[in-house]
Amino acid sequence: NNHKSDSRGALIVLEGLDRSGKTSQSSRLLSYLEGLSHSVESWRFPDRNTGVGQMISSYLANESQLDDHTIHLLFSANRWEKRSLMESKLRSGTTLIVDRYSFSGVAFSSAKGLDIEWCKAPEIGLLAPDLVLYLDIPPEKAAERGGYGGERYEQLEFQRKVAHSYQILRDASWKTVDAGLPLDDVEKQLREMVLDCVTTCQKGKVLSKLWS
Ligand code: TMP
Repeated sequence: NNHKSDSRGALIVLEGLDRSGKTSQSSRLLSYLEGLSHSVESWRFPDRNTGVGQMISSYLANESQLDDHTIHLLFSANRWEKRSLMESKLRSGTTLIVDRYSFSGVAFSSAKGLDIEWCKAPEIGLLAPDLVLYLDIPPEKAAERGGYGGERYEQLEFQRKVAHSYQILRDASWKTVDAGLPLDDVEKQLREMVLDCVTTCQKGKVLSKLWS
């Protein structure tokens, strides 16, 4: 038996407000794990490259209007269309660092006033992350960071509501990092958490489903 092919990759998700530094940290973590010769890929949601992703992208750019429920389900569908690939990558030993996942889906839509249980329902059965890293930053501080890019949700008042939704969603298993610290300090903390998770998954931690 080849032991290595039995060990699976870890599903690691980064969450946080817009401009919390998730994207920079994902690429840093990718390089870090690659440097340790791990099989790793960096993913993001929304994945704007699919047909559904293009509809989402045009909605975010304010080029199209959609009912709040409709866009919520498109974000979810965008994760469902990647689910089987995600599972096969993980089972074949590749770790995935994912920039936003179902928690963004629920946090952003419930911040608009949609019922939180309704928001969670379409996510049931997607793969559960092995680790959720929350990059914690006050909405005011995120807003100061080089300004927002002008997409639909990038407004201080709305981001405050999203921060509140994340507070409701997060549980004891999430790891929170102070994203107001210098990038290197944030990275240092994340590296340790990520490596720990990768090791646990290699040792046979069971891959489970949302919401568990
Ligand atoms: P991005 O800036 O990380 O590409 O994400 C685009 C925006 O979409 C961001 O404001 C968060 C929001 N979003 C949702 O509303 N629902 C979701 O399911 C996801 C993944 C993102």
